[in-house]
Amino acid sequence: MRIGLLGFGVVGRGVYEITASRDDMQVVKVLCLEDIKLPDAEAVKDFKEILNDDSIDTVVEAMGGLHPAYDFVRAAIEAGKNVVTSNKALVCTFYDELLPLAESKGVKFRSTAAVGGGIGWLSELERARRVQKIRKVGGIMNGTCNYILDSMTRLNLGYGEALSQAQALGYAEANPTTDVDGIDTWHKIIISSNVAFGVSLDRESVPVSGISKITAEDVENFASHGYVCKLIATGKCQDGKYQAYVQPTLCPQGSLESAVPTNYNLITFIGTASDRMSLFGQGAGRYPTAHNVIQDCVDVMNGKGFYSTYGEKVTVVNDDKVCYYVRGCQDAWLEENRKDTWGSAVITEPVSVEAMHSWLKEHPGAFVAAIPA
Ligand code: HSE
Repeated sequence: MRIGLLGFGVVGRGVYEITASRDDMQVVKVLCLEDIKLPDAEAVKDFKEILNDDSIDTVVEAMGGLHPAYDFVRAAIEAGKNVVTSNKALVCTFYDELLPLAESKGVKFRSTAAVGGGIGWLSELERARRVQKIRKVGGIMNGTCNYILDSMTRLNLGYGEALSQAQALGYAEANPTTDVDGIDTWHKIIISSNVAFGVSLDRESVPVSGISKITAEDVENFASHGYVCKLIATGKCQDGKYQAYVQPTLCPQGSLESAVPTNYNLITFIGTASDRMSLFGQGAGRYPTAHNVIQDCVDVMNGKGFYSTYGEKVTVVNDDKVCYYVRGCQDAWLEENRKDTWGSAVITEPVSVEAMHSWLKEHPGAFVAAIPA
């Protein structure tokens, strides 16, 4: 396999280093706007030098962001090149364009590193769905948020200090609000649900809330009631109806999720035959993520394309009802639904996920966490 590598940041450099010791694949050209010199590859500044190089059969996209990544990936597929990407924003946002295009062009398109970093989540989901229906997917899918929440809970670190550490360790996205506002997790649960259920979720119908408003008071409240807060993604398919959402969630102390440390992810599917299967591993970082890019390259060489065929567009209806912890805002609706009080926070009666997220849109200063029964 002869690879044109787009991007030479955290993941791209890891891909270059791992391929250097292999004889079945070679990075031939690297697109990088900075001046770099590489012993075994040509550094180029113009994507056309990769696109028009007929000796390159596969483009590995590790640039991140939507543009020009989308434009380059689309052009590569149209030119008949296989594509491997670690870019979840790209796969999620342009699912409806890229999947049908890759299918019609007969090229291989894979993105295992886009969900779960170093965990072979999408490739395991691909295997799981061959023999059963997948009912539920989700869990802890963002290393940066888990690092922050774990540091606040176990080490009493402040939010800002924990975020700075996650950035220094290379876990966070270029713009870390993508992580802490839950957008990165939102990309990942939409891709996972699409693969698991063989559909294309209407993204606008999938609500998300993040962890950026969490304080030490919240963490203390949770600990004194026997909980640990995690950012949890959920995707469900039941009787032809779909639900999907991302929200901070209180996990009982002693549960698997509560014990997930540092940048690790814990991602779970529930299948009709297998029941619960959970994958635990490094959700971010150079070598774990690059390792999954290389796994995809090996799979492409073995003739594997995307994890599922492109499926019908569906809108989610989030009618699950749960109690919520709400701090930082008071109003009549909250009072009507108040069941309990923890410190300055309201604990609600069970309300639908949809209702809570609609309320939160009108009260963006509040911190909200679900308390599943
Ligand atoms: N920023 C992401 C995370 C990187 O923290 O999980 C891996 O997708």
